[in-house]
Amino acid sequence: MTALTFPLADAARRISQEERDAVLAAPGFGQHFTDFMAHARWSIDGGWHGGELIPFGPISLSPATAVLHYAQEIFEGMKAFRHADGSVWTFRPEKNAERLQRSARRLALPELPTEDFLASVRELVAADEPWVPTAGGEAGEASLYLRPFMFASEEFLGVRAAQQVDYYVIASPAGNYFPRGVQPLVVWITDAFARAGAGGTGAAKCGGNYASSLLGKREAAQNGADEVLFLDSETHTAIDELSGMNVFALTRDGRIETPTLTGSILEGVTRDSLLRLAADRGLEVVETRMVAEDVLARVASGEITEMFACGTAAVITPIGEFRSPQGAWTVGDGGSGELTLALRSELTDIQYGRAEDRYGWLT
Ligand code: COI
Repeated sequence: MTALTFPLADAARRISQEERDAVLAAPGFGQHFTDFMAHARWSIDGGWHGGELIPFGPISLSPATAVLHYAQEIFEGMKAFRHADGSVWTFRPEKNAERLQRSARRLALPELPTEDFLASVRELVAADEPWVPTAGGEAGEASLYLRPFMFASEEFLGVRAAQQVDYYVIASPAGNYFPRGVQPLVVWITDAFARAGAGGTGAAKCGGNYASSLLGKREAAQNGADEVLFLDSETHTAIDELSGMNVFALTRDGRIETPTLTGSILEGVTRDSLLRLAADRGLEVVETRMVAEDVLARVASGEITEMFACGTAAVITPIGEFRSPQGAWTVGDGGSGELTLALRSELTDIQYGRAEDRYGWLT
């Protein structure tokens, strides 16, 4: 099959420079969208075809479109960063391409070849280049968040893998994911809900996992928390992840711990990058089953000194407190841990070009 190209349609920018500048001054997260989007279609007869860059705008769908009924949908999250010299870089985009392929296999969707994924992202970022914020200034840390996604677009109500699938990439200038910025989170541990079950879709980046987290998030908010922590669905004892972020603990004796990838946890690109940065810093990296009760006891005894959440959108955000129906536990002094912030700086310095890209992570 020939590789997809994503030529730019002959279309003007939809948003004026003044409006764009106003958005870039305070982008928030996920509220504003750029001028263009990438699109390609897959059909059972023709494979992937029709790559194009078109104006960002509504998608017209039949009410009988399969995704609206059976949720056959996957997505990715990644960012483009502007460096001080004005150049624009993405972070480990091939990892997102590979994860989209793994998610596609799990959801019985067609795999988009890595080169097509990379072309879609590259061409969209090139067309939307004025939308890549300059980090610093009022907006603080800011980047262009990229959201590739794919869904069953066939008009059909039978339950089977769709024979027509649409792939898009949209882009959204992004500041901090959490409204309070990089402030320590209060995390609610739910024992009422699980995010994903054994043999389910927990390791895939599919909308259903996020839908199933929402009631837990609501429960968290009702208990004054910013985020919800889900435990494994079988024993309700081991830490899986937050609603859309992986979890880490740092110990007094120089260990960094995170839950093992059991199949119900998303393989975060930030997670993977941090494991590498931490090991090269001399920390002992431990991927293990983390029983919530033990973790909380170790938080209480001071053995665990810092904890944090991480993901593309959240970057690294400290966890200051856990709450559950059983009580409340302050992590360390409840503030942003020193090592957490050091790891955060190390990662973002590479992303924003303030430090050498010694791992070859930027494209
Ligand atoms: C990301 O971190 O990119 C995600 O997709 C998670 C979501 C909470 C925004």
